[in-house]
This record gives sequence, structure tokens and C-alpha cells, in this order.
Amino acid sequence: RSFSPSAAASAASAAAGAHRQPFVIGVSGGTASGKTTVCDMIIQQLHDHRVVLVNQDSFYRGLTAEESERVQDYNFDHPDAFDTEQLLECMGKLKDGQSVNVPIYDFKNHRRCSESFRKVNASDVIILEGILVFHDQRVRDLMDMKIFVDTDADIRLARRIRRDTVERGRDVNSVLEQYGRFVKPAFDDFVLPSKKYADVIIPRGGDNHVAIDLIVQHIRTKLGQHDLCKIYSTVFVIQSTFQI
Ligand code: ADP
Ligand code: C5P
Repeated sequence: RSFSPSAAASAASAAAGAHRQPFVIGVSGGTASGKTTVCDMIIQQLHDHRVVLVNQDSFYRGLTAEESERVQDYNFDHPDAFDTEQLLECMGKLKDGQSVNVPIYDFKNHRRCSESFRKVNASDVIILEGILVFHDQRVRDLMDMKIFVDTDADIRLARRIRRDTVERGRDVNSVLEQYGRFVKPAFDDFVLPSKKYADVIIPRGGDNHVAIDLIVQHIRTKLGQHDLCKIYSTVFVIQSTFQI
């Protein structure tokens, strides 16, 4: 076969530009366990890579008029409270290298902001965070690494009371009522059983710097291997084009 510089160049650039799958990390754990805090720390430490965060909360379903009227009776901790089909569609697009518009959820009014979205761009690393991201097998199957943030229930409740009264427009009584009626039972029925799917369990959440350092090192290694594969496939294409 005769050597063609232009064919070699285009084959090499096709190999180099071939779409590479992002590394997907799932982060689960009970309410106020420190999932968001852990994700922020990972993102901060991976500053030389493109990392995006997707929150399962963004995919809370809207409530019917009837449900809105009796919102105190609605179970936001049951898997059915989420639009998992829409979450899967968004994650599929991101894995395919497309950008997506993710809904913004308003915890004060229990609904999605109808006009605004958050644009999430395709990236090297996608972190999907939420109380029930390990519940559905199709969602779990998207993940290359699963992390469970394990924080004592009393610490989580204390944080939740503070956060929900300060940031989510609730009073202490309503937080305690919701916790006893829905949050704790759903944690026992759905969140805790999904811990068995985790590759890594982080005790104490964001306070555990050693665990976060180890996770970041692992992600860096995986991303480095991706880059090596890309270089090898480019070399292979050049070799076959040149018939070396
Ligand atoms: P999650 O995403 O699991 O609900 P967050 O990371 O949002 O949890 O944390 C819930 C609340 O607890 C927030 O108000 C946050 O500031 C606080 N928090 C998280 N981690 C710690 C920590 N290690 N020490 C003290 N407060 C924390
Ligand atoms: O951030 P965090 O993981 O705590 O978010 C999940 C929690 O948000 C659930 O435990 C659920 O009870 C609560 N939630 C709420 N009101 C909504 C939607 C979710 O209190 N409208």
C-alpha cells in the first residue's frame, strides 16, 4: 500500500478525536450526610479536569394540585418522587458527549423553576449525587465508581434541621414531623439497602480528607489511563496507515 500523508493525518486525527466516555461517579448517602460537600471537595481537587455535578434533586417530579394542597403528606423520600426516566435521558446525553439543560428545583415551593435551567456541558468526569442514585439498576449501571457517604443519623438530623430552617423555608416542627414520618423510614427501606452497591464508603463525609484524597487519586489514575489509550490508538492508526 502506498503512503498517503493526508490519509495518515486524517486517520490519526479521527483516532485522537474519537469520543471518549466520561468517568461517571455516583455519590449516595442519607439526607444531610455531606454528599454535596464531598462532591465539591472532589471537584475542587480535580481542578485540572473538566468535572460536572448533576443532582438527583433536579429530577423531583412536580406535584399535582391535590398533592400541593397536602404537601405535608407527600413522601419526597420514596423512589417514585423522582422522574428517573428524565434523569436517565440526561445522563445518556452527557455520556454521549452532548450538553444538557438540567431543571432547577425549588425546595421552598416544592417545584421546578419553570423558566430556568442549568446548562451542563459534556465533561471528563460526571458526578451524580442524591439519596437514591443507587436504587435503580439502570442508573447504577451508568456509574464507573460508587461512593456512599456514611454519617451518623443524629448528626444528619441536626444538620437537616439547621439547613431546612435556614435555607429551605421550614420550621423545626415540620422538619421533625417529616423526618419521623417519611425521611427515616425511607432511609431504612431504600437508602441503607443500596449501600451494598458502593465501591467506597466514606465515614464522616467531608471531614474525611484521607478518603477524599484516595478517591481523587483513583480518578486521576483512571483519567490518565484514558489518555494513554487515546495515544496508543493514534499510534496504532498511524502504524497501520504507514504499514510499519
Ligand atoms: P447532603 O448533600 O448529603 O444533603 P450537604 O453536603 O449539603 O449534605 O450538607 C448538609 C448540611 O450540613 C449543609 O448545611 C452543610 O453545610 C453541613 N455540613 C456538611 N458537612 C459538614 C461537616 N463535615 N461539618 C459540619 N457541617 C457540615
Ligand atoms: O439534600 P438532600 O439529600 O438532603 O435532599 C433530599 C431530601 O430533600 C429528602 O430527604 C427529602 O425529604 C427532602 N425534600 C424536601 N422537600 C422537597 C423535596 C425534597 O424536604 N420538596
